[in-house]
Amino acid sequence: MNLSNILTRVKPSPTIAVSMKAAELKAQGKNIISLGMGEPDFDTPQNIKEAAINAIKNGDTRYTAVDGTNTLKEAVIKKFKRENNLDYQKNEIIISVGAKHVIYNALVASLNEGDEVIIPAPYWVSYPDMVLLCQGQPVVIETTAKNNFKVSPQDLESKITSKTKWLILNSPSNPTGSCYNESELKELAKVLIRYPHVNIMSDDIYEHLIFDNLKFTTIAQIEPKLKDRTLVVNGVSKAYAMTGWRIGYGAGNKELIKAMSMIQSQSTSCSTSISQAASVEALNGNQDYILKSSKVFQARRDMVVKMLNKINGIECNVPNGAFYVFPSCYGFFGKKTPNGQEIKSDNDFATYLLEEALVAVVPGSAFGSAGFFRMSYAASEDFLKDALIRIESACNKLK
Ligand SMILES: Cc1ncc(COP(=O)(O)O)c(C=O)c1O
Repeated sequence: MNLSNILTRVKPSPTIAVSMKAAELKAQGKNIISLGMGEPDFDTPQNIKEAAINAIKNGDTRYTAVDGTNTLKEAVIKKFKRENNLDYQKNEIIISVGAKHVIYNALVASLNEGDEVIIPAPYWVSYPDMVLLCQGQPVVIETTAKNNFKVSPQDLESKITSKTKWLILNSPSNPTGSCYNESELKELAKVLIRYPHVNIMSDDIYEHLIFDNLKFTTIAQIEPKLKDRTLVVNGVSKAYAMTGWRIGYGAGNKELIKAMSMIQSQSTSCSTSISQAASVEALNGNQDYILKSSKVFQARRDMVVKMLNKINGIECNVPNGAFYVFPSCYGFFGKKTPNGQEIKSDNDFATYLLEEALVAVVPGSAFGSAGFFRMSYAASEDFLKDALIRIESACNKLK
């Protein structure tokens, strides 16, 4: 079959590529530690599972409204009020098949050929490819480790053109774990107020994985003037260990939400009725899990950052959120592996770690930032310790 030309625009998700290679080595009997994927290693809390079981028992097994059940929309509205002090009506909310689907629907609904989308790098791998799939043009802003991978107001302003449709903000960030504080968001908001044609997609999926007693803030909350042109994207995947349940939600301008819903009606229809019922319990039920899991992640972060920074050649910032670290590896460039191969890039380094240390990490260039690698610490402390000992030993063999 002659496949669509659209395929020439995109590449498969590199994080999935790494875990597939790791799985291949595992199948050959190698003892691989995979720190490539981005999902909590905990089980979904019991009360949420029970809500799903009850939904099945009660016959909650049919199509729902395309944009989500009333009960879930009400739970989402309550969540935004309780946690973010944001007010929404039901026609400003959409429930989709994960936050990823919310973002995709929004881009399909809003982008015309050549429209520009500003994406700070390092970025979540899917943003640029989704923009390309929708015939848009990703415009990348580089950030530095020194600046904690955060975009400055000047850099933001320098990338805005008459074609800019969106700025995508992701805090806490995948892959760096960086978080914008209130005053940093205020500075970005000052720029955005001057450009009313620019919309903001605020991907808050890691909202609840925030450490060091920092308070999460989202741009629509701190600058109400931007609320109507901000699409807040969130979901239950990371906050409640529900990656497989596939529920995400978006909140924003009602015309945009209506268009997104129309697109969803001609593709997936509603999200799973059972997962929607479970998500009502996630949002309305006991929230203890959130606090417990972020404490565990913070302790792991401390251990991982400390062990990484002890390795000669690696420098790692202390991230304030999510469950990733994004250390540099350019200290090894020019060095040779025991087989005599030169490390010339973060790809070479990640391949070397997979082959020599049997640890899977993702090269930074997948996220638009060469010279770094992403390591997820959504794994048990024992696994992480073992992985870091192996990484250190492999690094020490580079001469
Ligand atoms: C930054 C970011 N946004 C969105 C998503 C997608 O989340 P969901 O599972 O809700 O589709 C991910 C998942 O890895 C992510 O890292």
